[in-house]
Amino acid sequence: MYVLRTFGLTKLYQNKQVVKNIDMTIKKGEIYGLIGRNGAGKTTTLKMILHLIKPSRGKVELFGKNPAKHQSIFERIGSFISASTFYHNLTAEENLEIHRRLMGITSKKRTEEMLKKLNLFQYKDKKVEDFSIGMKQRLGIARSMLHYPEFLILDEPTNGLDPQVMKELRQTLMKLVNNYEVAILLSSHILSEIDHLSSVLGIIHNGNLIEELNYEALQEKKKRYLQLSVNDVNKASFILENEMEISEYVVCNGGMIKIYNRVDAAKLNARMVEGSVEVYEMINARDSLENYFLSITEEGDHLDYYPAD
Ligand SMILES: Nc1ncnc2c1ncn2[C@@H]1O[C@H](COP(=O)(O)OP(=O)(O)OP(=O)(O)O)[C@@H](O)[C@H]1O
Ligand SMILES: [Mg+2]
Repeated sequence: MYVLRTFGLTKLYQNKQVVKNIDMTIKKGEIYGLIGRNGAGKTTTLKMILHLIKPSRGKVELFGKNPAKHQSIFERIGSFISASTFYHNLTAEENLEIHRRLMGITSKKRTEEMLKKLNLFQYKDKKVEDFSIGMKQRLGIARSMLHYPEFLILDEPTNGLDPQVMKELRQTLMKLVNNYEVAILLSSHILSEIDHLSSVLGIIHNGNLIEELNYEALQEKKKRYLQLSVNDVNKASFILENEMEISEYVVCNGGMIKIYNRVDAAKLNARMVEGSVEVYEMINARDSLENYFLSITEEGDHLDYYPAD
């Protein structure tokens, strides 16, 4: 069953389309990472899904239903879009308590549980106005999870978190998905903060959902390879295939070859020299998803170099 389906979701502001014709689906137990640069249309998309703003065109279906006709559907959803929705002069605990009662949750323990889960228990009596960005972020996530939603929608949840907290947040979200089959839709403009987490990655650019990558496609994009730069790619390819039985390689522009098979670099170099192929350069590299993302959203270089293992 689909938790979310959108059909041609579109938003216009001042006659300009900021979200264009987005069709996306999320199933139970999936984490959908929506990645896009600033202004790409992430928040606008999430707000339309949550019925916080009205789509100019298209429609949203939640749990197989039209949310406009079934408002109670939103009880099954938890979300955190912006920190401006806190009562800033109240404490962290008070903010959660208000939400807890609003959601009709009788157990007070739930507030404590969520404060602990997001490492905020020690700050429970601190006013939100004195919170850092990262702390507000965590409080927002705690609030969104308070009523044990089946579908969680988080706008840039990793924003402002230090690496340790980010790691813990990822683990918390993974647990929700693995143990309770919660579906999660989250956004980010920094790919490395969500690529490990996402089972599907949707790339949004200028309001268009330009590509969706599933888990296998993501792994493919992150493969390691040995990059050769040679004077004669034809000769080099011949040696790779016929003398070294290497089949997984691609020839790129500029006399470059990427070899995806595991290979002994010294042996490879010796063979090339024997076959009169000049090797200018040999680098252990990895197709970086970040660079892939940058390249399809216009800027950036295709290659990113990592030191050899
Ligand atoms: N209320 C509004 N009125 C007019 N234009 C808006 C409004 N809200 C958003 N926009 C415009 O719509 C586009 C998409 O904005 P949106 O906030 O969805 O992007 P985003 O991907 O969330 O960006 P960021 O990474 O900066 O949060 C931007 O060009 C923005 O300026
Ligand atoms: Mg945004």
